[in-house]
Amino acid sequence: MRDPPLGSASPEQSYWPLDDEEIVCGNQKNLRKRGDNNAATVRTRDRQMSQLAKPLAPAPANLVGPAEVPKGDSLFEQFDWLYILCREKLFRNDTRRMVKAFWPNTRPPSNSRLVELGCGPGFYSRTLARSFPELEVLGVDKSCRQVDYAEQKAIALGVNNCRFERGDVLDVTRPAQSFDYLIASRLFTVLPGPERALAEMFRVLKSGGRCFIAEPRYKFWASIPLFMLWLVASVSGQANGCREPSKATVFSRERFERLFHTQPWKSVRVWREGRYHYALCEKR
Ligand SMILES: C[S@@+](CC[C@H](N)C(=O)[O-])C[C@H]1O[C@@H](n2cnc3c(N)ncnc32)[C@H](O)[C@@H]1O
Repeated sequence: MRDPPLGSASPEQSYWPLDDEEIVCGNQKNLRKRGDNNAATVRTRDRQMSQLAKPLAPAPANLVGPAEVPKGDSLFEQFDWLYILCREKLFRNDTRRMVKAFWPNTRPPSNSRLVELGCGPGFYSRTLARSFPELEVLGVDKSCRQVDYAEQKAIALGVNNCRFERGDVLDVTRPAQSFDYLIASRLFTVLPGPERALAEMFRVLKSGGRCFIAEPRYKFWASIPLFMLWLVASVSGQANGCREPSKATVFSRERFERLFHTQPWKSVRVWREGRYHYALCEKR
C-alpha cells in the first residue's frame, strides 16, 4: 500500500516520492518507509541510527571516500564532517528568528510547505519540522554527503515531515508556486549569482508566500569555516580543483537591500542583528 503524501491532495501536487523513499547519493542508498513501523523498517532504522552514533566522523568505508571524490568537487562534499561540526555546534541558531518572522504568536497552517535552499546538514529543516509537525519540509543542497547526513539525522530523531534531496538552488526542480515558506541561511557566502538564486526563490514561492534569509555581515567571521575547510583540504593534499572561494562573500548593507529589489515582492523587510543581515520578503 502506498502512503498518501503528507498533506497533498493528489500525486501531481506532491513533492514527496510516493513509494518507499529512495535517495541515491554517491555509493550510498537510503531507504525509508514513512509511517511503517514493521520490524524490518525498525531494524533498518536501527542500522542507520547506529551509523549516526558517529555523525561527525569521516564517512565510513562503504561511502565514497575522499580519495574517490572527483577533483573539482566541493569542500562541503569532501569535508562534510567539518562543516557539519561547525553548523551543529558553532554557528548562530536563527530558528527563533525564523519562527517569529513567519508565525508570530501562531503556528503554521496545516500542511504548509517549507523549503530550505542550500540546507547543508539540514539543521533548520530538521529543527522546524520537529517543532511543527503541521509543516512539510524539503531541504535542498548540492552536496550529496550533507544531504545524506540531513536525511539520516532526521530518521534517527524520528522526524517524519522533512525530506532532503540533492539539487541546485540556481535551478530548483519544482514548478512555480510550490512552497508557502522558504529559508536560506549563509547560502550567499559561497554562491556565485545571488540574483539568479533570488529569482528562483521568488518563482517557487506561492502568492502570499514568505522567505527568510540570513547572511553573515563580516568577511572575517564568515570566512572562518571556509578557511578551516581549505586548511584541512591542503594538509590532506586534497585542495586541488575545489570550487569554493577561499573567502566568503558578504554583502554591504546597501548591496544586501538592493538584492531583494531585483524581484517584485509585495513587501521586503531588511534588518541587522549582531553579525548577521536578515531579510523577510512576502510575495504578492
Ligand atoms: C555555507 S553552507 C550553509 C549551509 C546551511 N544553510 C547553514 O546555515 O549552515 C552553504 C551550502 O550551500 C550549498 N550550495 C552551494 N552552492 C549550491 C548550489 N548551487 N545549489 C545547492 N546548494 C548549494 C553547499 O553545498 C553548502 O552546503
